[in-house]
Amino acid sequence: MDVTAVAESPLAVAADTLVVNLFERGSPPSGATGAVDRALGGAISELMASGDARGRAGEITVLYPRGAIAASRVLIVGLGPANVFCSEAVRRASAIAARRARELGARRVASLAHGAGINEMPLGDAAQATVEGARLGLYRYQADDGLDGFSLVDEDADRLEALRDGIRWGEAVAEGTRLARDLIQHPANVATPEHLADVARGLAADHGFEVTIGDRAWAEREHMGAFLAVARAAGHEPRFIVLEHDPSKGTEPPLVLIGKGITFDSGGLSIKGRQGLAGMKHDMAGAAAVLGVMRTVGRLRSPRRIVALVPATENVIDAFGYRPSDLVRAADGTTIEIISTDAEGRLILADALVFAARFEPRAVVDLATLTGAIDVALGPHAAGLFANDDSLASALLASAERTAERLWRMPLWHEYLGALESEVADLKNSSGKPSGGSCVAAAFLERFARFPWAHLDIAGVRATEATDGYQVKGPTGFGVRLLADLITRR
Ligand code: BES
Ligand code: MN
Ligand code: ZN
Repeated sequence: MDVTAVAESPLAVAADTLVVNLFERGSPPSGATGAVDRALGGAISELMASGDARGRAGEITVLYPRGAIAASRVLIVGLGPANVFCSEAVRRASAIAARRARELGARRVASLAHGAGINEMPLGDAAQATVEGARLGLYRYQADDGLDGFSLVDEDADRLEALRDGIRWGEAVAEGTRLARDLIQHPANVATPEHLADVARGLAADHGFEVTIGDRAWAEREHMGAFLAVARAAGHEPRFIVLEHDPSKGTEPPLVLIGKGITFDSGGLSIKGRQGLAGMKHDMAGAAAVLGVMRTVGRLRSPRRIVALVPATENVIDAFGYRPSDLVRAADGTTIEIISTDAEGRLILADALVFAARFEPRAVVDLATLTGAIDVALGPHAAGLFANDDSLASALLASAERTAERLWRMPLWHEYLGALESEVADLKNSSGKPSGGSCVAAAFLERFARFPWAHLDIAGVRATEATDGYQVKGPTGFGVRLLADLITRR
């Protein structure tokens, strides 16, 4: 699907389907929607008066102009009340309209950049949200969008530049998110650690990143005993991926992103039950988000220095696998007593955090499907945010607000670490109790973070059970939009 900006009257634009909008309890249609209304002899005003079209968020009304304008079909999408209007309403409305257009057999869709100027929303932001919504809402795993073209139309040629800018951002962010969704949805025998490495090599080739792919021998030289313990039973060989975007040529301290890349989490010897195993190909959603945001960063040619680290391995079983009671040594020398081989995410992240220190980062953010407990606490509505630095936490919360990838801050009180006291090692990898599970896991990670650091526990938000707005049933790609905003905030 080509996405373009066209300076033309919406009445004349070459498309089979035109998408206009309405606010709830708003005044009569004005602007471009008003022009379409007039061309249709007041059809939209009439639908409003009769209550058939109310402008409720996501409401779609279909009109057939029968030659009165160039498009053969008009979709009126509701944006909800103007006083609470924001870019999230645009993303949702645009996704719903684009999917309905596809269902109706549309091939070429033209849309307004919904809501530009309302509540001071800049045109570029409206355009970005309209494109993001359409691209993400039309997403299908291993099938194309189903449309040939999607254009943003505006009569005023002076506005073309802002539209194009919004499209560029919307496309970059959506492409990163779609890459993440694909990787998460791939079965574990496709999205292996080597496959993730291949994706990283492809990103490096496309965008001029530096890439290093560490294998077992490499990880041994790095003394990554915690990562290697988890990888010991792996049939698909582990990979430790280092990807760097550095326009500063080493002069700027980087933002380091770490993604948990467990390509399948069986639990190991502390094996999960039948139910628990089902979603565990998703246990690399953090890795997928980090690779996805590198796609976005590359496309946008961000001026910031970004390092992506992905420790990737499966957590499975064989005779040589690690066991509960084993002692392992992380790369900084910390000894860890294994209580549960199912608390593997924190082990691979520990070695990645130690590795991150060598970049002298300005900040480190890890994304991980770390605990089932975060889903119990927050459900699919927010990721847990843990941070040892308030200014990094505020920046992330601001990005969460802007992108509607919600975060909820959770505590890192040192008491949680008490649950991990070991008699034979510096700490245990699990308390063996469900109590405060997400906070105990975060406290474990904090032990390895010697820099401003934030941990996002994305286990609850990694996928959705039903298509809703721009979320399509399946993996969400959570974190790409959030991190892209954090990095490239205009
Ligand atoms: N990958 C899981 C966490 C998870 C659970 C993600 C459900 C998505 C859905 C993680 O490795 C894990 O197994 N965590 C354990 C920790 C426990 C052993 C301390 C958990 O949550 O039960
Ligand atoms: Mn596990
Ligand atoms: Zn896991």
